[in-house]
Formats: sequence, C-alpha cells, structure tokens
Amino acid sequence: MNRINIEKISSIFQSALKTENLIGREDTALIFYDMTFVEGRIGELKTLFPKGALHAVAIKANPLISNLKFIKKFGVGAEAASLPEIHLALEAGFKPARIMFDSPAKTKEEIIFALKKGININADSLAELELIKEFLTRQQSKSKIGIRINPQIGTGDIPETSVAGEYSKFGVPIKEYRKELQKYFFENDWLRAVHLHIGSQGISLEMLLSGAKVIYDFVSETNGILLKNSKKRIEQIDIGGGLPVSYFAGDKAVSLKEYCGRLRKNFPDLFTSKFKLVTEFGRYVYANSAWAVSRVEYVKTNGQYKTAVIHLGADMFLRKAYMPDKWHHEIFVLDKKGRIKNNGKRENYIIAGPLCFAGDLIDRKVLLTEIDSGDFIVIKDVGAYTLSMWSRYNSRQIPSVIGYSNKSKKFQILKKREEINKIVEFWS
Ligand SMILES: Cc1ncc(COP(=O)(O)O)c(C=O)c1O
Repeated sequence: MNRINIEKISSIFQSALKTENLIGREDTALIFYDMTFVEGRIGELKTLFPKGALHAVAIKANPLISNLKFIKKFGVGAEAASLPEIHLALEAGFKPARIMFDSPAKTKEEIIFALKKGININADSLAELELIKEFLTRQQSKSKIGIRINPQIGTGDIPETSVAGEYSKFGVPIKEYRKELQKYFFENDWLRAVHLHIGSQGISLEMLLSGAKVIYDFVSETNGILLKNSKKRIEQIDIGGGLPVSYFAGDKAVSLKEYCGRLRKNFPDLFTSKFKLVTEFGRYVYANSAWAVSRVEYVKTNGQYKTAVIHLGADMFLRKAYMPDKWHHEIFVLDKKGRIKNNGKRENYIIAGPLCFAGDLIDRKVLLTEIDSGDFIVIKDVGAYTLSMWSRYNSRQIPSVIGYSNKSKKFQILKKREEINKIVEFWS
C-alpha cells in the first residue's frame, strides 16, 4: 500500500476546512486518520498470515478507543502493555481471549486480574511465571500463558527501541537460560506459548527472521522432548511486532508480503494448524495512516535562521525532539485554504513547537516554500507512537483527532480537542 501523498492530504484538508462545525479557530492543530488505510493494513495482515492467527494490535502505538473499536470490527485482537491498556481494550469490546498482556512490570494483582478474566499473559520473567503458577495451583484460568524469550540476536539501528540485544530489560535471555526455560516447560503443562519481540523501527527483515529462527529452533527442540514424554507441546508462538515502516519520500519499506513469505518458507509449520500464530504489529498498522496539521502562529527571523512557530512540538513528537537524527517526519506547507503552497522560493526553516524549552523543535533544517503566519504545516506519518506518547509538559491541550474514509469522504471526530477543565482535573 502506498503512503498518503500531499496532494491527497491537501484535498482532504480543504474539504475538512469547508465542512460545517468540524474545525474552529481554536483548533490550532489537528490529527487526521485515513481509516481506509488502516483497514487496508489489517486486510494485508489477514490475507498474508494464516486464517487462525491472532493479530493483537499493539495498543501503545495508538490507544484511541474509537480506533480500537474500528479495528476490532475486522476481527483482530489487542496487545496491552499495562493494566490501563487492558481496560482500553475491554472498553472497546475486545474479548479477554483476544487480548495479550505484555509488560515487564506486571504486579501480582494485575496478573491475578488477567488470569481471572481469561486474558492471555506473556510473562516477562521466570519470577513472573512463579506468580502465575502460585495462582494456578489454587484456581483454573482460561488465559493462555507464554514466556517472553530474548533471542539475543543483536541491536537494530535505534538502540532505544531495540530489545533483542545480548542485554535487554525484556524477557528471558535464551543463551543463559535455555535449560531453565526447557525445564519450566517440562514441569508445567499450563505453559504452552512463547513470545518474542525484536524491537520497533530500525529493525531489518533479517533480524526479524533470525529472531524467529532462534525461538522456532528452541520450540522444535523442546517439543521433541515433550512429545517423547507424552506431554503437551508448545502450541502458540507470538512473533511480536516490529515491522518497520517508511518515513522518507522514496524510501522502500520492508514489505509485509516479503516478511510473511520468508516466514512461511523458513518455518512452514507456523502456517499450519500445528501452531497458533500471534502477531503484535502496531507501527505497521497505523504509522503511515495519519498526518497532523498545525496552523503557523508566527514566522521569526534571527540572522540566517527562519523559524515557523507551530502548535505541535515535543508534546506529540517526543522521539523526534530528543533524538532528531533517528526519527523523521516529512513536512509540507499548505496555505490558509489548505492548498499546497509553492511560490517557487524555497528556504531552510526551523519548525518549532510551542513548548518552553530550546529542544522543542520538530525539524532543525527543512527546505520549504516561503511560510507565512496563518499557513498550515503538515507533518506526515504520525499514526503511531506520537499521540500515544503525548507529554503533559506546559499542559497544552491534546488536539482533536478526525477520521475520514476514502470511500465516503465523510469526517468523523475520533477524539474531541481536550478541554481545559480536563487538564485542570489532571493536575488536581
Ligand atoms: C511487546 C511488544 N509487542 C509489540 C510491539 C509493537 O511494535 P511495532 O509497533 O513496532 O510493531 C511493541 C513495541 O515496542 C512491543 O514492545
């Protein structure tokens, strides 16, 4: 699926500006989701992976309940990394059996809650398995229990989002604990699932595949021994998420088709009824489906530097502000009416956010057409890990989020602009 281009964005935004009661003067910034795009990405998951696979879409990428409700219609599940994320999934109507609970810091109470509800758990450590065991000796649970294993295959281009290096705060490192892990499977027949996740963005296809190989080999060896002893085998493999997406014009993203094709070729059993396959994609489903737009409040000149001050900054783009070289978003200028602005003259601009610190910059040097106050700046590919990381610094209001469908061209408010009293409540 192609990324959404600026011509399309401009045309949608022009229609939105003309739509009655949709955008007001107070909407200094807005986020737009192309729901048809999200649906398309889910369609790809459903066609390329086996029919029975559970696609537990990572809530952390985009926790908006309206989006959760929307994707649920297509039969996917949800991956929750905290108790509140579990509640978001339940609120959106996901059945407990379609929720995967991952987190390295689950409390005993949270584990008990999940076990009682029948929410699946990927334990992050052997200590966590002990807590689960303690519960299961007293009570039954419908939850499927897995253990997260770190395949230790190395770190990707972004160390901060890579979790399968020699050291990782997540999971049980396989090199050190292979025997203990196997022993756990031999002795506890309620433990029948494994979980891996390599990282998010900056991960190559080869890394995803080599992580899967380490775990698949472990499962094959362990199942061989379990079956010899007439014991239940490992039935579920959760391959996590981590498929990278493209944030650059002309950049060829890793294709899901290729990933799936190679998984199927290397591990054919994963695509048969021998295993229940679980995935946890987040970025792939959402990142390219949304764009943000902010009014330019001021344009300032300081020597050779021109700065456009807008209404989104490190509050929504934490990663970009703090690690500008590792994260990228394409930026465009629209005029007051939402038309693509191009007056021939191009200059380097600094795009500054509204927050009170010097690093609150969305771009430190971007070549753009001349910007005037009242124009709009479009920031592309904001569908994942942007709004979900919203920072409360300076207590600015979260903008309205608007969904649209390519089919009907209708707009729908997914989340209304945050009201000031909600912020007062937050800090009370
Ligand atoms: C355990 C787990 N699963 C799934 C994901 C989703 O990853 P991505 O959004 O890159 O697909 C993450 C994100 O880091 C994660 O930590």
